[in-house]
Amino acid sequence: MASTGADLMNAQAELWCHTFGYLKSMALQCAIKLGIPNAIHRCGGSASMPELLAALPVAASKRPCISRIMTFLSASGVFRQESTPVPSNGEIAGVRYSLTAASRLLVDDDDGIRSDRSTCLSGLMLLCSSPLYFSSSQSLAEWLKEDDEDAVAETPFMMVQGASYYGFVSGDVEFAACVNEAMASDSRFVAEVLVRECGPVFTGVTSLVDVGGGDGTTAMARAFPQVRRSVLELPHVVDAMPADSDSAVEFIAGDMMEFIPPADCILLKFVLHNWSDEDCVRILKRCKEAISTREPKGKVLIIDVVIGSSPSKHILEAQLLLDLCMMVILPGKQREEEKWHKVFIDAGFTEYKISPVFGTRSLIELYP
Ligand SMILES: C[S@@+](CC[C@H](N)C(=O)[O-])C[C@H]1O[C@@H](n2cnc3c(N)ncnc32)[C@H](O)[C@@H]1O
Repeated sequence: MASTGADLMNAQAELWCHTFGYLKSMALQCAIKLGIPNAIHRCGGSASMPELLAALPVAASKRPCISRIMTFLSASGVFRQESTPVPSNGEIAGVRYSLTAASRLLVDDDDGIRSDRSTCLSGLMLLCSSPLYFSSSQSLAEWLKEDDEDAVAETPFMMVQGASYYGFVSGDVEFAACVNEAMASDSRFVAEVLVRECGPVFTGVTSLVDVGGGDGTTAMARAFPQVRRSVLELPHVVDAMPADSDSAVEFIAGDMMEFIPPADCILLKFVLHNWSDEDCVRILKRCKEAISTREPKGKVLIIDVVIGSSPSKHILEAQLLLDLCMMVILPGKQREEEKWHKVFIDAGFTEYKISPVFGTRSLIELYP
């Protein structure tokens, strides 16, 4: 059936939106780098353009660009744009920009006004829009065309940067700090939900190992004061931990592929999506060896994406974008429930329960 003129124009607009999708990412990055969420927050959650310009480090000649960037970010839901009419004649006096639920997550002011500053996700957003991620994703098609026999790069990241993701992280102190801060901000966000919604999961747990637990932010959460907690991490991560780090958490240098210390509960937050099915089975077999298979049985807690866990189109799109991100930077992937099921069975587990409590991610309780 022939398309109408309107269909054709909509189809072209759809293509513009996709092809310029990177500008959506860069506009968000720019707003974070300029400190726009913090500036609006300091104005009480809503700011006029003159108030905003007075607070931002922008050259005078480029000030008009800020209202164009704010118009775009308001149209896409990061901020809210409101026109304020003059009460006497109803004419538009000016425009105010306010924070939305999304941009509130980008405020990191330590001014005591906001009680939930621990949920600031700016670090994570800056990592995911960083030049390393962006330049690697530009080579996706070339990487896909590379014949298996000639292939030396297991990911586009490796093809462009010349090292695997974690190889690169271990050799670049600045990037490692950026990754750690990004993951820590995500862990503070997740830990709050874990404390609020998932308390019963920790009933009876006396010891926990957070495998691939980064700088220990999740293990240090208020959720488990009564639990003996350890973090198993790669040696370079443990070596970089400051000596004064929370003494309630023990850091153990090691390789989760080889050995995981025994505990009632093993936590794997945002770890398995980094790995192939074969590697996940290997890690989960180590987890099974670390927990008790007799009553009271131990458990493995996985916090990761289960594609399709929510009816929300928005959440599904975020899950699928996280899957493409894995394709670009690591040999891992996001999984639907059927794929998780197979990995669990292959690793020797018999029972699991999925709770989609973290929006894009779920809590999976796994039992031997
Ligand atoms: C995506 S990060 C997740 C960090 C943390 N769980 C979080 O969510 O904030 C994956 C972590 O796995 C660690 N890791 C990678 N390979 C590992 C291995 N073989 N043994 C132990 N940890 C490993 C990395 O150093 C990194 O901190």
